[in-house]
Amino acid sequence: MTLQQVYKHAIKNNYALGAFNFVNLESLTAILDAAQELNTPVIVAVSESAFKYMGFEFLKSIIQGARKTYSIPFFVHLDHGKNLDICQEAIECGFDSVMIDASSLPLEENIKLTKQVVNFAHAKGVQVEAELGKLKGVEDDICSSEHLFTDPIEAKKFVEETNVDSLAIAIGTSHGVNKFSGEAKIRTDILTQIENAIPSTPLVLHGASSVPKELTQKINELGGNLKNAKGVPEEILTEVSTKHNIVKINVDSDIRMATTYAIRKYLTENSSEIDARKYLGEAKKEITKLVKEKILNVFKTKEINNF
Ligand code: G3H
Ligand code: 13P
Ligand code: ZN
Repeated sequence: MTLQQVYKHAIKNNYALGAFNFVNLESLTAILDAAQELNTPVIVAVSESAFKYMGFEFLKSIIQGARKTYSIPFFVHLDHGKNLDICQEAIECGFDSVMIDASSLPLEENIKLTKQVVNFAHAKGVQVEAELGKLKGVEDDICSSEHLFTDPIEAKKFVEETNVDSLAIAIGTSHGVNKFSGEAKIRTDILTQIENAIPSTPLVLHGASSVPKELTQKINELGGNLKNAKGVPEEILTEVSTKHNIVKINVDSDIRMATTYAIRKYLTENSSEIDARKYLGEAKKEITKLVKEKILNVFKTKEINNF
């Protein structure tokens, strides 16, 4: 089963796949445990900085280990690759899919770089996601102070000229835990216009953590200091998964919050414990719980039996 087949199935059957970021063995296996328990496909994503943090050889080995351990279809994806080199490195490392994020460049340069990555990746049977528009906030090292929503006309030109497999769009979400100062506003009207312009292109939503209030509260009660944390309401995520062509929803911050909460809680309640397997084990359980909830109740991902 290829990722492109799953995307097509997702558009037709009104659901999305979660793309959950991992940074170590614990977070990878916690996400895969969740998908395995629910018998659904899932995407596990590695940012450029997480790639460097884990290192090429170790990352390659844990991906191979995961392929031998889990029977559900899972896809390893490079998140926000900034140039051709890192995309090539990820492909060599065994990734199924890469994102080339040249969204900070002018349109023609974004097209040019995306095309180079598409040519290289497709020859190796690897899929490519690109981005058009800008998300407010920090995208790795790039910081944008304003949203620049994706232009539907540009999206059509971009997809036709690059032959990219999926497109990440900007409709009001942003990375991190401080997404909105007031009411959460997501431009589903622009999403509809994009779908009308490129009806068969699988679309991707970045910056889609819901930043659960209970988690923020519990982290702060345990000594944390998350201020003005606000995420994307779950109803909106379900709406774009089931009524629109969004097939991939990116979640990183919520995983970080689940990890932080579990470790703070465990160490507060067990102050003489020094075995990392104990508190990392609690983090794993909390990530698995969060990922299962999203797959099942928010993104409505279909079981593999339904393919
Ligand atoms: O898209 C942004 C991700 O949350 C990656 O963040 O570079 O800190 O791993 P990171
Ligand atoms: P969040 O910060 O909302 O989790 O977004 C993650 C993301 O888009 C990774 O590419
Ligand atoms: Zn992102």
